[in-house]
Amino acid sequence: MPLAEYPWEHVSLPAHTDERGSLTMAQSGPVGLVPFEIKRTYWLHDIKDGGKRGAHATFNGLQLVIPLAGGFAVTLSDGVSWRTFNLRAGLSMKNGQTDGLLIKPGAWRELDHFLPGTVVLILADTLYEDVDYCRDWSEYLARVGKGE
Ligand code: TYD
Repeated sequence: MPLAEYPWEHVSLPAHTDERGSLTMAQSGPVGLVPFEIKRTYWLHDIKDGGKRGAHATFNGLQLVIPLAGGFAVTLSDGVSWRTFNLRAGLSMKNGQTDGLLIKPGAWRELDHFLPGTVVLILADTLYEDVDYCRDWSEYLARVGKGE
Protein backbone atom coordinates (compact mmCIF):
# COMPACT_ATOMS: atom_id res chain seq x y z
CA MET A 1 0.00 0.00 0.00
CA PRO A 2 1.62 3.30 -1.00
CA LEU A 3 2.00 5.99 1.66
CA ALA A 4 -0.67 8.16 -0.02
CA GLU A 5 -3.28 5.54 0.88
CA TYR A 6 -1.97 5.13 4.38
CA PRO A 7 -4.58 3.86 6.83
CA TRP A 8 -4.81 6.86 9.14
CA GLU A 9 -6.55 10.21 9.34
CA HIS A 10 -6.37 13.14 11.71
CA VAL A 11 -9.54 13.94 13.63
CA SER A 12 -9.80 17.32 15.38
CA LEU A 13 -12.15 17.54 18.34
CA PRO A 14 -13.25 21.12 19.04
CA ALA A 15 -13.22 22.51 22.58
CA HIS A 16 -15.83 24.67 24.30
CA THR A 17 -13.66 27.12 26.18
CA ASP A 18 -14.81 29.79 28.62
CA GLU A 19 -13.52 31.38 31.82
CA ARG A 20 -13.92 28.03 33.65
CA GLY A 21 -11.68 26.14 31.27
CA SER A 22 -12.33 23.82 28.37
CA LEU A 23 -14.70 20.98 27.54
CA THR A 24 -14.00 18.75 24.56
CA MET A 25 -16.59 16.33 23.24
CA ALA A 26 -16.38 13.18 21.15
CA GLN A 27 -19.54 11.48 19.92
CA SER A 28 -20.51 9.36 16.96
CA GLY A 29 -21.65 11.14 13.83
CA PRO A 30 -20.88 14.34 12.01
CA VAL A 31 -21.38 16.70 14.98
CA GLY A 32 -19.13 14.82 17.38
CA LEU A 33 -16.65 14.00 14.65
CA VAL A 34 -16.18 10.35 15.52
CA PRO A 35 -16.84 8.66 12.16
CA PHE A 36 -18.15 5.40 13.61
CA GLU A 37 -20.51 4.02 16.27
CA ILE A 38 -18.56 3.81 19.52
CA LYS A 39 -18.85 0.27 20.91
CA ARG A 40 -15.83 0.13 23.20
CA THR A 41 -13.52 2.49 24.95
CA TYR A 42 -10.29 1.80 26.79
CA TRP A 43 -7.48 3.93 28.09
CA LEU A 44 -3.79 3.66 28.78
CA HIS A 45 -2.55 5.16 32.04
CA ASP A 46 0.10 4.67 34.71
CA ILE A 47 2.51 4.01 31.88
CA LYS A 48 5.95 2.97 33.09
CA ASP A 49 9.01 5.02 32.25
CA GLY A 50 10.21 4.00 28.79
CA GLY A 51 7.04 1.93 28.32
CA LYS A 52 5.97 0.74 24.90
CA ARG A 53 2.49 -0.40 23.87
CA GLY A 54 0.94 -1.80 20.75
CA ALA A 55 3.31 -3.61 18.38
CA HIS A 56 0.36 -5.25 16.72
CA ALA A 57 -2.31 -4.83 14.07
CA THR A 58 -6.05 -5.36 14.11
CA PHE A 59 -7.96 -5.97 10.93
CA ASN A 60 -11.56 -5.26 11.94
CA GLY A 61 -12.88 -1.85 12.74
CA LEU A 62 -11.66 1.65 13.38
CA GLN A 63 -9.97 3.09 16.44
CA LEU A 64 -9.63 6.72 17.40
CA VAL A 65 -6.62 7.50 19.61
CA ILE A 66 -7.03 10.64 21.73
CA PRO A 67 -4.31 12.11 23.97
CA LEU A 68 -6.09 13.11 27.21
CA ALA A 69 -2.96 14.04 29.16
CA GLY A 70 0.72 14.20 28.35
CA GLY A 71 1.93 13.05 24.99
CA PHE A 72 3.38 10.11 23.09
CA ALA A 73 4.36 8.88 19.64
CA VAL A 74 2.23 6.61 17.46
CA THR A 75 4.10 4.85 14.68
CA LEU A 76 2.04 3.21 11.94
CA SER A 77 3.08 0.88 9.18
CA ASP A 78 1.42 -0.88 6.29
CA GLY A 79 4.27 -3.39 6.05
CA VAL A 80 6.34 -1.17 3.76
CA SER A 81 6.27 2.43 4.94
CA TRP A 82 6.45 3.79 8.46
CA ARG A 83 5.06 7.04 9.74
CA THR A 84 5.33 8.53 13.23
CA PHE A 85 2.86 11.01 14.74
CA ASN A 86 3.57 12.92 17.92
CA LEU A 87 0.28 13.39 19.74
CA ARG A 88 0.00 15.94 22.54
CA ALA A 89 -2.86 16.52 24.96
CA GLY A 90 -4.39 19.96 25.23
CA LEU A 91 -5.57 22.35 22.62
CA SER A 92 -3.44 22.73 19.54
CA MET A 93 -1.95 26.18 19.02
CA LYS A 94 -2.94 25.82 15.38
CA ASN A 95 -6.70 25.35 15.64
CA GLY A 96 -7.63 25.31 19.36
CA GLN A 97 -8.75 21.68 19.04
CA THR A 98 -7.61 18.33 20.37
CA ASP A 99 -5.98 16.31 17.63
CA GLY A 100 -6.68 12.59 17.59
CA LEU A 101 -5.55 9.92 15.18
CA LEU A 102 -7.97 7.58 13.43
CA ILE A 103 -6.38 4.19 12.81
CA LYS A 104 -7.95 2.21 10.03
CA PRO A 105 -8.10 -1.60 9.77
CA GLY A 106 -4.84 -3.33 8.93
CA ALA A 107 -2.36 -0.77 10.26
CA TRP A 108 0.53 -2.03 12.36
CA ARG A 109 0.88 0.30 15.35
CA GLU A 110 3.44 1.04 18.02
CA LEU A 111 3.11 3.59 20.83
CA ASP A 112 6.11 4.89 22.77
CA HIS A 113 7.93 8.01 24.01
CA PHE A 114 5.24 8.57 26.63
CA LEU A 115 5.60 11.75 28.69
CA PRO A 116 5.10 11.32 32.46
CA GLY A 117 1.41 11.30 33.41
CA THR A 118 0.18 10.44 29.92
CA VAL A 119 -3.37 9.18 29.55
CA VAL A 120 -4.52 7.89 26.15
CA LEU A 121 -8.19 7.33 25.37
CA ILE A 122 -9.10 4.93 22.57
CA LEU A 123 -12.56 4.70 21.03
CA ALA A 124 -13.38 1.65 18.92
CA ASP A 125 -16.31 0.44 16.84
CA THR A 126 -15.80 -3.23 17.70
CA LEU A 127 -15.84 -5.26 20.89
CA TYR A 128 -12.50 -6.69 22.00
CA GLU A 129 -11.61 -9.84 20.12
CA ASP A 130 -8.20 -11.33 20.67
CA VAL A 131 -8.42 -13.36 17.44
CA ASP A 132 -8.43 -10.12 15.45
CA TYR A 133 -4.93 -9.27 16.72
CA CYS A 134 -1.73 -9.96 14.83
CA ARG A 135 1.21 -9.50 17.20
CA ASP A 136 3.96 -10.99 15.07
CA TRP A 137 5.69 -8.84 12.46
CA SER A 138 6.47 -11.72 10.07
CA GLU A 139 2.89 -12.94 10.24
CA TYR A 140 1.71 -9.40 9.65
CA LEU A 141 3.86 -9.06 6.54
CA ALA A 142 2.48 -12.33 5.18
CA ARG A 143 -1.08 -11.24 5.95
CA VAL A 144 -0.75 -7.91 4.13
CA GLY A 145 1.03 -9.55 1.23
CA LYS A 146 4.45 -8.02 1.96
CA GLY A 147 6.21 -11.14 3.17
CA GLU A 148 8.97 -12.88 1.23
P1 TYD B 1 -2.59 -5.09 24.67
O1 TYD B 1 -3.19 -5.37 23.32
O2 TYD B 1 -1.28 -5.74 24.99
O3 TYD B 1 -2.47 -3.52 24.89
P2 TYD B 1 -1.74 -2.44 23.94
O4 TYD B 1 -2.45 -2.44 22.63
O5 TYD B 1 -1.87 -1.14 24.63
O6 TYD B 1 -0.31 -2.85 23.82
O7 TYD B 1 -3.67 -5.48 25.76
C1 TYD B 1 -3.32 -5.67 27.11
C2 TYD B 1 -4.31 -6.65 27.75
O8 TYD B 1 -5.61 -6.07 27.79
C3 TYD B 1 -4.41 -7.94 26.96
O9 TYD B 1 -4.48 -9.00 27.90
C4 TYD B 1 -5.75 -7.83 26.27
C5 TYD B 1 -6.56 -6.92 27.18
N1 TYD B 1 -7.54 -6.09 26.48
C6 TYD B 1 -8.88 -6.27 26.76
O10 TYD B 1 -9.29 -7.14 27.54
N2 TYD B 1 -9.80 -5.46 26.14
C7 TYD B 1 -9.43 -4.49 25.25
O11 TYD B 1 -10.30 -3.77 24.71
C8 TYD B 1 -8.03 -4.34 24.95
C9 TYD B 1 -7.58 -3.29 23.97
C10 TYD B 1 -7.13 -5.15 25.59
